[in-house]
Amino acid sequence: MQQKKLAFIGAGNMSRSIISGLIKSGYAKENILAANPSTPKLDGLKAEFGIHTTQSNDEACQFADAIVLAVKPQIMGDMCGELQKNNDLSGKLFLSIAAGLPVARLQEMLGGEYPVVRIMPNTPSLLGKGMSGMYADSTVSEADRQYVDDVMNSVGETVWVNEEAGINGVIAAAGSSPAYFFLFLQNMQEEAMNMGFDKEQSRLMVQQAMLGAAEMVCNNPDLELSELRAQVTSKGGTTAEAVNTFINEGLKDIVSKSMRAAVARADEMAKQL
Ligand SMILES: NC(=O)c1ccc[n+]([C@@H]2O[C@H](COP(=O)([O-])OP(=O)(O)OC[C@H]3O[C@@H](n4cnc5c(N)ncnc54)[C@H](OP(=O)(O)O)[C@@H]3O)[C@@H](O)[C@H]2O)c1
Repeated sequence: MQQKKLAFIGAGNMSRSIISGLIKSGYAKENILAANPSTPKLDGLKAEFGIHTTQSNDEACQFADAIVLAVKPQIMGDMCGELQKNNDLSGKLFLSIAAGLPVARLQEMLGGEYPVVRIMPNTPSLLGKGMSGMYADSTVSEADRQYVDDVMNSVGETVWVNEEAGINGVIAAAGSSPAYFFLFLQNMQEEAMNMGFDKEQSRLMVQQAMLGAAEMVCNNPDLELSELRAQVTSKGGTTAEAVNTFINEGLKDIVSKSMRAAVARADEMAKQL
């Protein structure tokens, strides 16, 4: 991985996860800096990872070749306004993990057509099992794309979208989708309880089945999901009966409608920022 000087502006949960992933992947701690207004998170990062820390975003900017914009979307405008007022931003690469802010809007906030990669990570990134969707326009070089890909690979997998609108599809498929699985599991847990199992037994059964199923999917990349399902579904058996009930009751349509609702909401929210 290229070793740029990398600063994180905003030292919250997502920054912490990426920093942790980078250090585990062998990124030099001397090349990482985190900036945050309050000190407790900075003290924790310094103690755990030995990285540089500062309460000054300007100092972060001066340190860095690449800057992760990791504050809440609502304060991004003010924060970038200060950055551009106090610093020369030319030659710097920006990585934005803020939900809903398009590249053009970020460039406007930064006051120039600086290279910006827009990243949509998801919450399992906090465990190193993330899925990030990324978009960059032509201002970002191939080498910088590769760099950002390597950074985000330290907390999980990555996909690039060719059109920025594709980021909303990433939100529907990966950003929001852990919650779909939680809902499905919750319903299964409740039904197991209706069948007489206690809460803990019910949870254990459904979560362990999910974990095993996820590993089977990940360990068999060449098998279509439908083939995997066929392999565990004997004709006329119990699994077939349950699966056919899902299909006949319109699961596919429910999934499609739900994912489209997520995309529509992402479109709406982007207009409000
Ligand atoms: N967490 C996720 O799963 C997830 C997923 C996708 C995208 N994101 C995006 O990632 C970004 C960060 O999310 P997060 O979950 O890490 O949020 P977070 O834990 O709230 O972190 C945001 C950090 O920004 C700091 N901050 C506030 N004002 C600042 C300023 N002017 N300059 C520098 N730092 C400032 C906050 O410091 P104080 O606490 O001291 O105020 C806080 O430590 C957000 O834009 C979010 O949309 C998060």
